[in-house]
Amino acid sequence: MYNFAVAFYSRTGTTRDVVQRMADRLDCPLIDIADVVSRAGFWGDIRCVFDNLFWRRVPYRASGPDVADCNTLVVMAPVWIGHLAAPMRAFLEDHRAFQGNLAVMAARGGYLSAEDIAMAAGR
Ligand SMILES: Cc1cc2nc3c(=O)[nH]c(=O)nc-3n(C[C@H](O)[C@H](O)[C@H](O)COP(=O)(O)O)c2cc1C
Repeated sequence: MYNFAVAFYSRTGTTRDVVQRMADRLDCPLIDIADVVSRAGFWGDIRCVFDNLFWRRVPYRASGPDVADCNTLVVMAPVWIGHLAAPMRAFLEDHRAFQGNLAVMAARGGYLSAEDIAMAAGR
């Protein structure tokens, strides 16, 4: 059982950088959520917008420990048009059964991400 784990999604590396620094200090495992289809470039930007605009459910890959083995899950992901990035939303929706603590780090206010995380996680 892990005390803390950080579940994160990063498209262009900013969140990954922050997560890495935090994980080094906390010495905790990471759950790395990644795209199945690349979001690189202009068309990737457009997909980010449309996925969030229409609340699309997107495929993702997750590597790291099982969520059920974590007491507290720290969630870190970018904001896209005011909402939580779609791959993290899908991941949280798939792990609604998680009963542990959810910790949210919101940069620049996070817009509606905290609410999105609560909704996706069924809380
Ligand atoms: C399509 C798109 C929409 C975005 N919308 C917002 C937004 O509404 N608010 C915001 O603060 N940043 C927004 N951003 C900026 C990203 O949240 C920011 O660049 C973030 O650090 C990217 O994280 P990453 O490098 O880990 O993917 C948007 C970026 C993209 C590509």
